[in-house]
Amino acid sequence: MTQSPTVLKELPLDLDRNRLPKHVAVIMDGNGRWASRRGLPRIVGHQRGVDTLKNLLRCCRDWKIPALTAYAFSTENWGRPREEVQFLMTLFERVLRRELQEMIEENVVIRFVGNLEVLPRSLQDEIQKSTEDTKNNGGIQFTVATNYGGRQEILHACRSIASQVQQGKICLDEINEELFEQHLYTAGISNPDLLIRTSGEMRISNFLLWQIAYAEIYVTSTLWPDFDRVEFHKALSAYQQRDRRFGKL
Ligand code: FPP
Repeated sequence: MTQSPTVLKELPLDLDRNRLPKHVAVIMDGNGRWASRRGLPRIVGHQRGVDTLKNLLRCCRDWKIPALTAYAFSTENWGRPREEVQFLMTLFERVLRRELQEMIEENVVIRFVGNLEVLPRSLQDEIQKSTEDTKNNGGIQFTVATNYGGRQEILHACRSIASQVQQGKICLDEINEELFEQHLYTAGISNPDLLIRTSGEMRISNFLLWQIAYAEIYVTSTLWPDFDRVEFHKALSAYQQRDRRFGKL
């Protein structure tokens, strides 16, 4: 972090409080490069990435942005070296255990989206515990995409709807966007207004394919561990300069 945590505690004056995104989603890219550039092992980048995410969550709370979704692990990330995958799984578990009490005190509601059933049992237990222990909180809604893939999520929803049709619980005419959204992992969570990707890649990488249909996309070359409040301020300024027409004139 290039700034002390007290800097930018308040919403910067040039931002319009009434036109902030209600939901920000982040593709946290560049941890490995951040570490390699410093001659450090890639895992140090992931550790720093956790601090960055925690600071961003606090920033959203301070600036009154009610929802944040982070892409922690994609279905494609299993293709990384075994040691890195193992490190990430252990890191997620440790972070959840370490941060749970603070999340409860800070009123965070944590949720996980993705195919969670194939994650290590001990991680699934922490996921279940943190979800359960924060579900009645009233503060920021924090969603973590873990073993998440947008295409897989859409297939999962299709199967779930098809099964209900097969059982005669719903008929074909009832399938519309609203019903479809109820079968996504993100059921009950608003669609993101702003999607931020760090490290400069111009890709969606299978993230929230359905949900970002009308999200504004902001890409910065800043690597994720360096994405601080100053960088977030820049992203929000860019967002507020966009003209969101949702396909209308
Ligand atoms: C992408 O950088 C980052 C990841 C695949 C992992 C992100 C995970 C965290 C920051 C931890 C979040 C933890 C919790 C509990 C929510 P990269 O490795 O692809 O970087 P590179 O493109 O430079 O190689």
